[in-house]
Amino acid sequence: MAEALAAWYPQHKRDLPWRADRDPYHIWISEIMLQQTRVNAVVEYYKRFLAELPDAASLAFVSEERLMKLWQGLGYYRRAANLKKAAEVIVSKYGGVFPDMYEAIRGLPGIGDYTAGAISSIAYGLPTPAVDGNCLRVYARVFAYAGDIAKESTKREVREALLPMYRMADPMIMTQSLMELGACVCVPNGAPDCGNCPLASVCLAKEKDAWQRYPVKQAKPKRRIEKMEALVLVCGDKIAIKKRPETGLLANLWEFPNHSTEESNVHTASAFAGTLGAAPSKILVESSYRHIFTHVEWQIAAYCFLCEKMPEDLTWVTREELVETYAVPSAFAPMLELLETARSLSSVTEET
Ligand code: ADE
Ligand code: SF4
Repeated sequence: MAEALAAWYPQHKRDLPWRADRDPYHIWISEIMLQQTRVNAVVEYYKRFLAELPDAASLAFVSEERLMKLWQGLGYYRRAANLKKAAEVIVSKYGGVFPDMYEAIRGLPGIGDYTAGAISSIAYGLPTPAVDGNCLRVYARVFAYAGDIAKESTKREVREALLPMYRMADPMIMTQSLMELGACVCVPNGAPDCGNCPLASVCLAKEKDAWQRYPVKQAKPKRRIEKMEALVLVCGDKIAIKKRPETGLLANLWEFPNHSTEESNVHTASAFAGTLGAAPSKILVESSYRHIFTHVEWQIAAYCFLCEKMPEDLTWVTREELVETYAVPSAFAPMLELLETARSLSSVTEET
């Protein structure tokens, strides 16, 4: 298996920016971004992030606001907060130099077994298997292994099982090739491309024509649904936004005024705007959308009102300031579109 992967990887690897060198800081940032996000979505974020924050020191000293703006749209924002915390530890405890021992790396905020294994093997060539979803899928198929991959004990078992292979080959290539095979050949959705797989000759799932049975994964509990009403309040050239609480979902990011409610229509929305003190005078546009998180689904009724007052407990910003400076998560991106619709409609009215 090790030989087949080592021969296959150099010829089939995708040319990705975090594969240009083995700088542990680069590998770390890429692995954190890639944890819950697809490669294609990560590439541009990765380049922009490193251009502005090229090392642990710059990350340790960046403002929280700027960091969240750089992360805007990637989701799972706690990853970014943990990056900064870890950078602070690297500066204060390790003199700004990324640690080169597995235990020290594993001890940094936001770094679990998988990420510690990936950084240690890719940046330092240590024999530390990095067991993520890609790796688990390939492993389960090759060995027709029926353990529940949602369990920690399964991951531990797979890590142990891969250790000999990591010890006899280049650990960097083992980690990268298992991930690459899982992403491009032994894919998660749909049929694997066994005809182009370097492991086809040893794969038990292929031999039994049973790839659909592996990996085994326990179903997740159903998502909770939360119905909400959210407002774009426009007063002159200003729009109202609000900072979310310091803890919980989307902590510290900026949002449009909203609240949970079972029923929503223009009247309830206007009343809500009234309770905020904004004196809504005219409804411009409305729409609705949903946003799916891991554990909850938001169903949002969205309204854009022209207002006459700018209560001080909301933050009033221009559209340009909002876009350039404030980190607004994707869950509220459709609110910005609503604002654009309102603007285009009102400019049409002005012209006619
Ligand atoms: N997913 C997680 N880590 C990765 C890497 N280094 N290359 C490609 N996809 C990945
Ligand atoms: Fe996956 Fe097919 Fe390769 Fe087996 S032979 S590892 S099922 S792609």
